[in-house]
Amino acid sequence: MLRAVPSAGGPPKRETIKTMSELDNQRHFWDTAGAAKTFTHPIDFAWLSRLASTARIIDYGCGYGRITGLAQQQGFASVEGVDTSARLIDRARQSHPTVSFRVLLNPPKLPYSDTSVDAVLLFAVLTCIPTDTGQQQLVTELTRVLRPGGLLYVSDLLLQTDQRNQARYQQHAETYETYGVFETDDGAICRHHTVDWLQNLLLDGFNIDTTRQVTVETMNANSANALQILAVKR
Ligand SMILES: C[S@@+](CC[C@H](N)C(=O)[O-])C[C@H]1O[C@@H](n2cnc3c(N)ncnc32)[C@H](O)[C@@H]1O
Repeated sequence: MLRAVPSAGGPPKRETIKTMSELDNQRHFWDTAGAAKTFTHPIDFAWLSRLASTARIIDYGCGYGRITGLAQQQGFASVEGVDTSARLIDRARQSHPTVSFRVLLNPPKLPYSDTSVDAVLLFAVLTCIPTDTGQQQLVTELTRVLRPGGLLYVSDLLLQTDQRNQARYQQHAETYETYGVFETDDGAICRHHTVDWLQNLLLDGFNIDTTRQVTVETMNANSANALQILAVKR
C-alpha cells in the first residue's frame, strides 16, 4: 500500500508501508478450506483477571469468533475480533451477532491508534504466518496499539517430536528457509516453533509474565503441544 508523505517542495513522495507477503497472508486458504475448520486452543481467563470489564480487547486472527465470544460471555464488554478472512468473519457474525468483528484488508495494519488497546489475544495465528519477517511485523503492530502495561496473550504450536511432523519439517526446511514450516495436505503453509523463538519474538517490547504448555487438537484433528505466553507491554 502506498501513502503520500510530505516533502520539501515538488510533488509528495510515495513511501511504502510494509504489508505482509502472500505467504504470511494466505487469505485464499482461509476463505476456502480453512473456513470450515474447528479451532481448539484453550483460554485461561484467570490470566486476564487484572483487566477491568470495560477493557478494550482485540482478538487478532479471531477466525469464527470462538475466543471473542467467550471473552464477551466472560463479561468483557469491549471486545472486537479481527481477521483477514471474510468467510470466517461472516461465520463469526452469525455465531455471535452482538460481538463486533472486522475484516482486515491490509494485515498486520490495525485501525486503532497508538496505545489505545488494553489486551490482544493471539491464538493460533503465528502458525499461519510462516516467515520471521511476517511474525515480527505483526508483533511490531501489536506493540504499537497496546498501552504500556497492556497484555498480549499468545497461544501457538511448538515443534512436535513425532516422526510425521519431523519428516515434513525436514521436507520443507530448504524451500521455506525455516525448520518447522510445512505444507498441509489441504493447501496451507504453517509453522511450528521452538519455545525460544516464541519468547524472543516478544523480548523487545514486552516482559513475559506467565507461560504454560498445553495439548491441543490441530485444525486437522491431530494432537499437538502448544505454548501459551502472557506478556506485558513495557
Ligand atoms: C487457526 S485459526 C485460529 C482462529 C482463532 N484465533 C481461534 O483460536 O479460534 C487462524 C486464524 O488466523 C487468521 N489469519 C491467518 N493469517 C492472518 C494474518 N496474516 N492476519 C490476520 N489473521 C490471519 C485466519 O484467517 C484464521 O482465522
